[in-house]
Amino acid sequence: MDILAVFNAKGGVGKTTTAVNLAVCFAAMGRKVMLFDLDAQGNATTSLGQAVLPSIGTFDVVTGAATLKEARLPTFIDDLSLVGATTSLAVVDIEKTKKKRDHHVMRKIAMAHKDTIDIVVLDCPPAFGELTVNALVSAHAVVIPSPPTPYAHDGLIRTWTVLSRIRTTLNHSLRVIGVLPTFLHGEEVNEPAGDVVSACDSSILSAMNAEYGDLVHPDGIPLNSELFIAAAAKGIPACVLEPNTAASLAYVEVAARILPREKKGKTKHAGFRWFKEDEPADSETMKTAVKKLNEFRKKADGQGLLSTNINIPDVDKDALDMVSQLNAIDEDIDSKIRPFTLGLAFLGVTLLAGVVGFLIAWASYNGLL
Ligand SMILES: Nc1ncnc2c1ncn2[C@@H]1O[C@H](COP(=O)(O)OP(=O)(O)O)[C@@H](O)[C@H]1O
Ligand SMILES: [Mg+2]
Repeated sequence: MDILAVFNAKGGVGKTTTAVNLAVCFAAMGRKVMLFDLDAQGNATTSLGQAVLPSIGTFDVVTGAATLKEARLPTFIDDLSLVGATTSLAVVDIEKTKKKRDHHVMRKIAMAHKDTIDIVVLDCPPAFGELTVNALVSAHAVVIPSPPTPYAHDGLIRTWTVLSRIRTTLNHSLRVIGVLPTFLHGEEVNEPAGDVVSACDSSILSAMNAEYGDLVHPDGIPLNSELFIAAAAKGIPACVLEPNTAASLAYVEVAARILPREKKGKTKHAGFRWFKEDEPADSETMKTAVKKLNEFRKKADGQGLLSTNINIPDVDKDALDMVSQLNAIDEDIDSKIRPFTLGLAFLGVTLLAGVVGFLIAWASYNGLL
C-alpha cells in the first residue's frame, strides 16, 4: 500500500483538485483508492458527491473515536472510498496535542486495511498543524501543486522548508516526487493583462525549473476555469465530468507517470515514481484510464449526478432576512444623517456669509474699501 500526500503551505493552489483527480485516475487505473479529506473546509468531500459533510470522518479516525470501517464512505466509483471532513476537523489540533503524540497514526490506520486499499491519497490543509505533520510523516511521497504566480512561488519556498524539516526529523524516507505547476495559461490568454500573465507564467516557471530542476513536472495542469467551476458545482471530479479535455488528460498523465508498479511478493509498498523518471507515462495505461473515466461519467450520469448542482446552495432565507435588516438599518441611519448634514452645511454657509458681510461692512466703515 502506498500513501501520497498532496501538500502546499499555501491555500488556493490546487491541492484539493489535484488530490481528488489523482485519486479518481488511480481508481481508473485499476487500483483500490482511499481519499482522506484533512481540510476542515471539506472541499474534497464535497467533490465526491457529498453535499453535506458526514457526521463521522477524518477527525474521529485520527483521534481514535471511530474506526476506519465506520468512517469510510463509498463513492459512486466502486474502487474509490472517502474518509470525509467533518465540521469538528478544525479542532483536531487542540484535541491531539492533549494526547501523547503519535505522528504515524494515519499510516498505522491505513496499513491495518492494506488488503482493501492499494493507494491512500491525503488532501492536506494549507496550515502546518498537527494534522499536516501526521499526514507528512505517514506519507511515503508528497506532490506539491503550485501555480506560477509570485505569491505562490513564495509559498513554494515555505513549503520546501517545511518538507526539509520533516525529512530531516520525522520521516527520512518521505519522497518529494515533484512540484506540479497548476493553473497554466495557454495561448488563449487575451484579457488586458494577458501579456503580463503569460510572461509571469514563463518567468516563474523558469525560476521553478532552475530551483527544483527535475522535480518540476514538465507540462503541468492547464487553466480551465469553466471546467473546474462546473465540476465543483456538481460535486464531480473534473476528470469524470470531462475526461477528454486537456486539463483532465493532464491529470491522467500525472497519475500514470507516478503510479506505483504492481506489488511484487510481500513488499510493503511499491513506491510512487518521480515526475521526471526516465520512463514516461505509459500510453496504454493512460488510454485504458480515459476509457474507464468515460465509464465513470456514464455511471454518474445514470445516477443523475451530472444534471444536479449539489454544491450551489438554495437561497438561505435567514441570511436574506439578516441582509435586508442590515440594509434597513443603513437606510434609517442615512435618512437621519442626510438632513443633519445638509443643515450643518447650510449653517456653515450662512455663518461664512455673515463673517464676509461683517468684514465688508467693517472695511467700508474704516474707509478701506
Ligand atoms: N487548473 C485549474 N483551472 C482552473 N481552476 C482551477 C484549476 N485547478 C483548481 N481550480 C480551482 O481553483 C480553486 C482552488 O483550488 P483548490 O484545489 O481548492 O486549492 P487548494 O486545495 O490548494 O486550496 C478551486 O475553485 C478549483 O476549482
Ligand atoms: Mg484544499
